[in-house]
Amino acid sequence: MPDPIVVCEGLQKTFVHMGRPLEVLRGIDLRIDQGEVVAIVGQSGAGKSTLLHIIGTLDVPSKGRIRLGREDVTGLSSGKLAAIRNRTIGFVFQFHHLLPEFSALENVMMPGLIQGKSQREMEKPAMSLLEEVGLKSRATHRPGELSGGEQQRVALARALVLSPKLLLADEPTGNLDSKTGQQIQNQFFEMNKRHGTTIVVVTHDLSFARSMPRVVTMKDGLVDSDERMPGREASADKADEAPPSPSSRGDTVPARAVEG
Ligand SMILES: Nc1ncnc2c1ncn2[C@@H]1O[C@H](COP(=O)(O)OP(=O)(O)OP(=O)(O)O)[C@@H](O)[C@H]1O
Ligand SMILES: [Mg+2]
Repeated sequence: MPDPIVVCEGLQKTFVHMGRPLEVLRGIDLRIDQGEVVAIVGQSGAGKSTLLHIIGTLDVPSKGRIRLGREDVTGLSSGKLAAIRNRTIGFVFQFHHLLPEFSALENVMMPGLIQGKSQREMEKPAMSLLEEVGLKSRATHRPGELSGGEQQRVALARALVLSPKLLLADEPTGNLDSKTGQQIQNQFFEMNKRHGTTIVVVTHDLSFARSMPRVVTMKDGLVDSDERMPGREASADKADEAPPSPSSRGDTVPARAVEG
């Protein structure tokens, strides 16, 4: 049985708004194993993004526990959380948050550059990811010179450039036409297959969700259903293998979250 990469136990989140508590997560129990591909669906306001942010250590729960890999991250300081996040997690958001004054290649390299890695060190892995998402020929384009779907694929490459074990995506196809959305979806599956990346995608796109091996439906801050679809296997069995990477994408490079 593969090791869990995310374990939530009795997770609760209460926001206080204008002096009144608002219970947004009301006791989430969820285990996600290494190499899984999971969709999180549910009505607007159900708490999907809140849960994704807590899994991604961008926010902390009010109650309950959360473990990432073997590490219990509940109650860690924000500095420690940032370190764990940088090492393990990549994010893709609905709006890609690319830096407009930099080229596609520079945007993909950015997480490494921010960590103090050299241009030379980052160029190869960034270029190879741009190639994987089919954008090698657009490397020198700035975001304004790319289509929406291309920008989203650059954001995906950026989220992956430091080889995160866990990729979290919030509505990554939300503002795309269905064909381009489909390309992004395929890219997720491809990344999972090639690198064993665990992928958790919040989506309103039902056709996307239907293609996923596991679909978690949230309702009013709780998990309403958690379905595994036979025959839609992700690469869980491959997750423990070293990713078949060119040496330039070595695992020694810590992953860094790409935030807006
Ligand atoms: N910082 C906050 N303070 C107060 N309330 C908040 C805060 N963030 C989110 N909420 C509320 O929590 C609820 C859940 O929000 P969340 O963003 O998790 O929903 P969601 O399931 O992602 O919805 P959508 O599908 O529309 O993106 C919403 O009703 C929202 O208004
Ligand atoms: Mg949301």
